[in-house]
Amino acid sequence: MTRKVEIVPSILSADFTRLGEQVEEAAGAGADRIQIDVMDGHFVPNLTMGPGIVAAVRRVTRLPLEVHLMVEKPEMFLEAFVEAGADYVLIQVESTYSLYRSVSRVAELGAKAGVVLNPATEVSALTEIVPFVAMVNVMTVEPGFGGQKFIKTSPEKVRRVRELAPELDIEVDGGIDAKTAPLVVEAGANLLVAGSAVFGYKQGVAAGIEAIRRAVG
Ligand code: DX5
Repeated sequence: MTRKVEIVPSILSADFTRLGEQVEEAAGAGADRIQIDVMDGHFVPNLTMGPGIVAAVRRVTRLPLEVHLMVEKPEMFLEAFVEAGADYVLIQVESTYSLYRSVSRVAELGAKAGVVLNPATEVSALTEIVPFVAMVNVMTVEPGFGGQKFIKTSPEKVRRVRELAPELDIEVDGGIDAKTAPLVVEAGANLLVAGSAVFGYKQGVAAGIEAIRRAVG
């Protein structure tokens, strides 16, 4: 089954003095979803944004919004983010003792649940949860910051996730640009999160999205 490759700009690298414009630019340039990276300074050594930013982005675009929870105890925040407008809530498998209850709660709230694997987390961590999620995100950098270097063993890991979950949307996140995108698409990924390669692209947001789109054909 050939899946449409979707581009998911992450606003982590956007210019926050004109966030609305940047989101509209990405949407106008054919972005398929927008990803909002939530960090609590505990699960990752960085602190970013909360439900208020999700609600603000919700006001400027109709694109599906993915909220990537890089936080401890994500179960504490599910209602707030779905309430704010999240269509997808992505939970790190390493971040909670009750992953099944958390993904079930996301579905109860009317959003779609995804799970995220950090680079050192084995694919086998997915086995029991795959039937209950809409997507899997394979981190291709250690989470916490934009603009990091793509971990070169990632395509092989994506291949193994695709084997385990032939039906699921598989997302990759971190260091994805026109060079690395073809590697992960060929391995089976179909959702490409890109922060710095879009919002940090020197010729602008639309050109950044176009460069990735062209690279994956
Ligand atoms: C966690 C974040 C980043 C971001 C993408 O680190 O999840 O991976 O979305 O950042 P870039 O595309 O700049 O590597």
